[in-house]
Amino acid sequence: MRTQVGIIGAGPAGLLLSHLLHLRGISSVVLEKRSRDYVERRVRAGVLEQGTVDTLVEAGVGARLLREGLPHHGIELRYGGAGHRIAFEKLVPGRSITVYGQQEVVKDLIAARLEAGGDVRFEVEDVALHGLEAEPYLTFGGERLDCDVIAGCDGFHGVSRPSVPDGVLSFFERDYPFAWLGVLAEVAPSSEELIYSQTERGFALHSMRSPTVSRFYLQVPPDATTEEWPDERIWDELKARLETVPGFTLTTGRIIEKGVTPMRGFVTEPMQYGRLYLAGDAAHIVPPTGAKGLNLAVADVRVLTEALDRFFSTGSTGLLDGYSDACLKRVWRAQHFSWWMTTLLHTFDSDDDYGRRLQRSHIDYVTSSDAAATTLAENYVGLPW
Ligand code: FAD
Ligand code: DHB
Repeated sequence: MRTQVGIIGAGPAGLLLSHLLHLRGISSVVLEKRSRDYVERRVRAGVLEQGTVDTLVEAGVGARLLREGLPHHGIELRYGGAGHRIAFEKLVPGRSITVYGQQEVVKDLIAARLEAGGDVRFEVEDVALHGLEAEPYLTFGGERLDCDVIAGCDGFHGVSRPSVPDGVLSFFERDYPFAWLGVLAEVAPSSEELIYSQTERGFALHSMRSPTVSRFYLQVPPDATTEEWPDERIWDELKARLETVPGFTLTTGRIIEKGVTPMRGFVTEPMQYGRLYLAGDAAHIVPPTGAKGLNLAVADVRVLTEALDRFFSTGSTGLLDGYSDACLKRVWRAQHFSWWMTTLLHTFDSDDDYGRRLQRSHIDYVTSSDAAATTLAENYVGLPW
């Protein structure tokens, strides 16, 4: 079996790459180890930058996103007994974000791939990469797929990155001393806008998915498990961390999903080796406080599509050779912003009184200076694509 681009992973990066390549007449096969049902139900990100929305719409997979996505023109930072709005329309006029669940993006992309006759294989076993230096091919479940290029879109725990010989890639990493407990609940959002709340008990985030479904995150110890967090404890803690301003009441409801995500920053340099190109979480991870991971995956895929189009239409490897450099600037900007948001809003057990006062001064600055708030706003809505 032969294809031009062998893609490992049917997350947002792999599926979108396959679809964008299809629109340019380039063939691909997507190999995914999980079932279709599993990837369509996996609850993760929710904040799409304008560039991500534009990319999906231009690719013809944005109809439901435009119908059901929730445009947002600001977020609230809540701390010290008060809420402070970061007003995008004032600070970064004309720019906004859209709240739309990652698994909805994945559903839309899978539907589009299958409708266009795309080759997306689920529950594929033992994917392995070979011949990365010159003649790449993939093996899986007793089959062989020859390709011109391999795209490693298999997330942080995938096989692509570890298939590169030792010593070729450099890794830059920071682990945070806490995790996020993510919760999806059948209840109308208690706020129209996202609330990022900093308290002495830890950070909490109130987000949403629709007028009837809310999404929440709680800062928890790094080794926390969902068993330690029965529903009642989750609601008690969310109330303690969100009902910190006069007149705000959190409406509770049925919890339909919960999971714990470790918090880390991680970057691979370069994001390529021979005929293998890494995209999305396979190449880099950000702590989710800045809502950047999915958006970075989409940005990588855009760059890779252009480079592959040039390669297949002219034989020139110029853009492919520069793929990593073209992506890493944005990747490091997102690393810095995500670190900045994380340190601004989380409680660090290691902090002494000096550290806590510095953090308070930092939030006071962000909420009282338009210059500082603009830094937050322009990174949050995303730098121009
Ligand atoms: P993935 O979505 O991880 O997809 C990789 C795919 O590869 C998976 O389907 C996996 O099953 C498959 N795979 C793995 N190994 C193999 C193998 N050996 N063989 C075949 N297939 C394999 N980002 C944002 O932009 N905004 C947010 O608001 C946001 N919030 C988040 C909240 C949480 C709780 C979490 C966990 C993440 C959040 N992110 C956010 C990050 C975002 O979800 C990820 O960055 C995004 O999923 C990256 O997409 P991807 O396609 O690169 O990787
Ligand atoms: C969501 C996730 C994030 O990481 C974030 O910063 C904001 C919102 C969400 O899932 O809705």
